[in-house]
Amino acid sequence: MNFDLKTLDLAAAASEKCDLLVVLLPEGFKPGKDALSALAALALKNGDLVPKAGKHLQLYQAPAIAARRVVLVGQGDGSARATRQAVQAVAGALKAPQTKRAVLCFAAEPAAGAVSAAVQAVADASYVYTATKTKVEARSLGRCVLGVPGATAVRTDFDTGVALVAGVEFAREWGNRPANHATPTLLANAAKTLAKLPGIQCKIHGPAEVARLGMGAFLAVARGSEEPLRFIELRYNGAGKDQAPVVLVGKGITFDTGGISIKPAAEMDEMKFDMGGAASVLGTFRALAELQPAINVVGLVPACENMPDGRAVKPGDVVTSMSGQTVEILNTDAEGRLVLCDALTYAARFKPAAVVDIATLTGACVIALGGVRSGLFANNDALASALQQAGETAQDPCWRMPLDDDYADGLKSNFADMGNVAGRAGGSITAAKFLQKFVGELAWAHLDIAGTAWKGGAAKGATGRPVGLLVHYLLEQSRTLAAAKPATPRRTARARAA
Ligand code: BES
Ligand code: MN
Ligand code: ZN
Repeated sequence: MNFDLKTLDLAAAASEKCDLLVVLLPEGFKPGKDALSALAALALKNGDLVPKAGKHLQLYQAPAIAARRVVLVGQGDGSARATRQAVQAVAGALKAPQTKRAVLCFAAEPAAGAVSAAVQAVADASYVYTATKTKVEARSLGRCVLGVPGATAVRTDFDTGVALVAGVEFAREWGNRPANHATPTLLANAAKTLAKLPGIQCKIHGPAEVARLGMGAFLAVARGSEEPLRFIELRYNGAGKDQAPVVLVGKGITFDTGGISIKPAAEMDEMKFDMGGAASVLGTFRALAELQPAINVVGLVPACENMPDGRAVKPGDVVTSMSGQTVEILNTDAEGRLVLCDALTYAARFKPAAVVDIATLTGACVIALGGVRSGLFANNDALASALQQAGETAQDPCWRMPLDDDYADGLKSNFADMGNVAGRAGGSITAAKFLQKFVGELAWAHLDIAGTAWKGGAAKGATGRPVGLLVHYLLEQSRTLAAAKPATPRRTARARAA
């Protein structure tokens, strides 16, 4: 769908021809002399509308208004959060089949992040999954105009929102696809399509190369599947060659049966979402291609299925990871950490400024934090607070969890350097402690998105999280780098190299 940003006051908004006009009215709204303002002021005065975020009033073919339908909606304090709530409240009108063209008008100057929040909420409301459905209408909303008192002031915020929509929808799309439509090979192909975009390169490693690299833990997980594994390596170069990259590592288990330690049947279908970390990495690259920030980013995705089979890895098997450390695989369902540990070892070769892995890693994290905040683990306070802050800004929040060394006690093994599971207690932390054994001194963070990457129940589907958090983090890093150093935009850097 297309978004446009326009300078519009309510008088101008009233003459915009569209199927739906949404007017965002914050507390303290000052009406102008136009008809729409008068209508809103009257409704507020009579108490038929309150400016609380999400409270709304619908009008049909109102006189002197070009839009067929109008929704006046309260925008609360006008913050990004309240704006999102306001748009969510009119989601029904935005996704109605007759709504092909919508105008969303801010009655007052938007707060920081409010335009981006509105763009994302409109996209979210109108998103439809179609890939494997024959009887479903594609998204009806084709164009949405964002009307603001002054377009120039919010241009960057608008662009960020549009880029995030592209990234989040890429992640949702791949997350939602059933495992037979999102095999490791298909996921790698999706990564290759990203390399057609400016600044992005992609390399795909197959089983032979992964074996040559000595990724014994990753290979052990992939053994039980007929689908060949893929190791995806993406690069986005937006800064000079001397600039250390941020490495993102996404868990790419395209289906997790649990392997020989097989999962119960109930809700096992949801394990098609076990590549949510991978999807968020791909989605982040999709957004980077739009935004072209001055930063270098590497994306790594170990992708395979976790299946039971005659050749599958068995509980008690000991494998040698790429780091040289041996692992006793006590539970084949703790496979995410096994594919990630080798990717984390590989990450070190980029001499990264920071490594962030993103994984639907543990059911324990769902118990701890539910679906609101992702679990954040980090061996570096600056990195942790940058990610935390990015999560707040993006309305894609996380919560820091501990990494005391005592939590690693349960990983001791009689037959290898470590086991791949500890007890049930503190399961998301012991999983993080396992990963930490593979990052050495690197500044590293781990996001456990098991509770946030998808929703279950009637609204079952991928959320596209934490693309918002990651993109905001990278944008902030690019700004910090630019402030610390004289700007080296990529064209200059390239011209110098040429
Ligand atoms: N992909 C799962 C984690 C998961 C479970 C995410 C439920 C969302 C909902 C992961 O591979 C897994 O199976 N983890 C095990 C680890 C255990 C065997 C130590 C778990 O959480 O039960
Ligand atoms: Mn598992
Ligand atoms: Zn898993």
